[in-house]
Amino acid sequence: MSKYDFDSVIDRHGTYATKFDGLDQMFGRHDVTPLWIADLDFAVCPDITAALRRRLDHPVLGYSAAPDSYWQSIIDWQKHRHGFEITREELTFIPGVVKGIGLAVNYFSDKGDGIVIQPPVYHPFRMVIEGNERRVLENPLLFDGREYTMDLEGLQHIIDTEHPRMMILCNPHNPIGIQWDVETLCRVADMCARAGMIVVSDEIHGDLMLDGRRHIPFVSVSDNARRVAVTLGAPSKTFNIPGLVSSWMVVKDPELRRGFYHWLEVNEFDAPVLISTIGAEAAYRHGEAWLDEMLAYVHDNLHYVNDYLNANVPGVTAIRPQASFLLWLDFRELGLSQDELMHLLLDKAHLALNDGSMFGRQGVGFVRLNVGTPRCVLHQALEHIRLAVEQLKANQ
Ligand SMILES: Cc1ncc(COP(=O)(O)O)c(C=O)c1O
Repeated sequence: MSKYDFDSVIDRHGTYATKFDGLDQMFGRHDVTPLWIADLDFAVCPDITAALRRRLDHPVLGYSAAPDSYWQSIIDWQKHRHGFEITREELTFIPGVVKGIGLAVNYFSDKGDGIVIQPPVYHPFRMVIEGNERRVLENPLLFDGREYTMDLEGLQHIIDTEHPRMMILCNPHNPIGIQWDVETLCRVADMCARAGMIVVSDEIHGDLMLDGRRHIPFVSVSDNARRVAVTLGAPSKTFNIPGLVSSWMVVKDPELRRGFYHWLEVNEFDAPVLISTIGAEAAYRHGEAWLDEMLAYVHDNLHYVNDYLNANVPGVTAIRPQASFLLWLDFRELGLSQDELMHLLLDKAHLALNDGSMFGRQGVGFVRLNVGTPRCVLHQALEHIRLAVEQLKANQ
């Protein structure tokens, strides 16, 4: 029997939700169903809102210090959920995962340094590198039409020719939902350690494993990984609390950590915020049953989309994710330009989805669909895609 309700449609308009209230700015219209930015349309675990409410019953909201129990809740969760052991000194707060990447880029590299990314990948990686006047070095994923893999030879070639300072790894990899295997991660660690590089591993989707898979933190795979890794995580995707901004960082290597953590501290980049520590601790301590039910619902949504497309929309294929609630849809068989594809989805199907090309030019012909929404919303969106594609074919 399910305890939580993921089927009810919650009106999020007017709550400053980027997904809804940011539609005009992002898509130029708001009369569309938003299935883009990566948060969930589900109510959070009630223990989280109860903990926040309890604190807000006190009328003074002064400066605050994170209690030991907050740090311990992160440590306990990682050990319990992933067998990932971290100590208090290895752990720090960061004001968001993208900001954490920006902080690492600024601290560990200089203007003009090369930083490797593996597109199609979460677009802020490129924006952080370019915005900080570092060089983007692309090692695109390999794609055989069904599956994506990491191009390890390509990575070695870039290391040998461009001498990058850093690599930003996405593990699991957004937008495709790949959990990299131990062997791949070990090889990345060996190559990067040999080259004296740092690997910033964004593991924000790590709690969202599907089909009984296990998350493999990059830093956990070998001594070399331990030497080079800056790991970033958060309860934000896991428990649908990105608005609270409660991300964390782990650096295991004492040499790597010392200067960096000192720099974060003197600039107060590592200072937790009252509301985020309360929300995060409640989530880590009381949210597991909610998470497991949410993942089961998302799993069924992913199958629902896949089955619907196979039965009703020839020419559109879903690439099955191993983690998370984002689905990479391949529209290439329709033979449209990216502009035509986005016009079809936005103006004909009335859906706001992420344009695949924002994740790199390798994403042309693709879009990213967020299935973290009630099934009835998803069903309606699929009907709209079917009708738009049928109309397109009828007019061709
Ligand atoms: C891979 C990845 N990293 C980071 C973020 C954003 O994290 P934050 O809001 O903590 O910056 C997202 C959000 O979609 C993401 O998919």
